[in-house]
Amino acid sequence: MPEAITPLIRAPWRRRSRAGAWALAALGLISTGVQARAEDTSIGVYSGRHYNSDQKLYQQFTTQTGIQVKLLEAKDDSLIERLRQEGKNTPADVLVLVDAARLERATSLDLLQPARSATLLRTIPPNLRDSKGRWVALTRRVRVVLVNPALVKATSIRTYGDLANPALKGKVCLRDRKSVYNQSLVASQLLLRGEAQTQSWLKAMTSNVTQPYFSSDIPLIRALAKGQCGVGLVNTYYLARLLNGEAGPADRALARKLQVVFPKPAHVNISGAGITRYAKNPQGALKLIEFLASPVGGKGYAEANHEYPLKGFGDDPILKGMGRFQADGLSAEQLGSRNRDAVKLMEANGWL
Ligand SMILES: [Fe+2]
Repeated sequence: MPEAITPLIRAPWRRRSRAGAWALAALGLISTGVQARAEDTSIGVYSGRHYNSDQKLYQQFTTQTGIQVKLLEAKDDSLIERLRQEGKNTPADVLVLVDAARLERATSLDLLQPARSATLLRTIPPNLRDSKGRWVALTRRVRVVLVNPALVKATSIRTYGDLANPALKGKVCLRDRKSVYNQSLVASQLLLRGEAQTQSWLKAMTSNVTQPYFSSDIPLIRALAKGQCGVGLVNTYYLARLLNGEAGPADRALARKLQVVFPKPAHVNISGAGITRYAKNPQGALKLIEFLASPVGGKGYAEANHEYPLKGFGDDPILKGMGRFQADGLSAEQLGSRNRDAVKLMEANGWL
């Protein structure tokens, strides 16, 4: 998913203000009682995800609960900024974001409130939710090493650390430092290996890079398949989209040339959701989050983007074809909290 802030909005909408509702009531067009019910039976959702299948799930939720979902889809960072600026006037009850670091940023800006839900505590593994209950993960995504076997032996790569091997000089393709996915990967290495080891890894790996640095994963996958480099770091769902033919037969043919290596342990990131600080309908918001975290909702949300459910490996045939991974087990909250350190270290060690 792109990370620049742009005002891409699929379906602009605005909740009718209370003042407006009172004005209409005064005109005798509606009663305030009717308006109160309308507020109870709808929720505003700001989502950084933008997959058609998500909308089918929201419709399913409406059918089950009678709660209408008013959806605004935009880029994650612009949603955080929008929510911050709207403050108490926000029409959003639920915020859905991609990447642990962004969810942590939303909590550090006090944009989310704790959800009190025994269901969520029971359903979501502790490392995949905020310790104060302000967000929970809904899907998992894995950042893997992708190999062009014509140039590099897949068996020569077992960990992210192996990308620092001098034998890979000029053969490594990376997405740029602005990518929150890479930032979270580096945060994971900081947590697992400490600062000194992470620093040497970064220095050696970036000296293996063949430029340019990429601004998203898809062109990096294409470059790998065309032999511009032999190894790269990508999220599995980008490869899955190409393998599934979603970008056409030429990209599918390119994707088929590549081999996935799940480093041991693998870096796992999330998409997740929380109730906004100033939600007008926090109960409705919680119902939606519980629905999305349920087996039906979780499966739908994961499959919409070839992601993994919170537990197990799911039923996506393309992901199944890539094999299984051993998750690093780190807490998503900790990944977010080390984001700043990760970015500084990347900057100091040549990750452009
Ligand atoms: Fe993405």
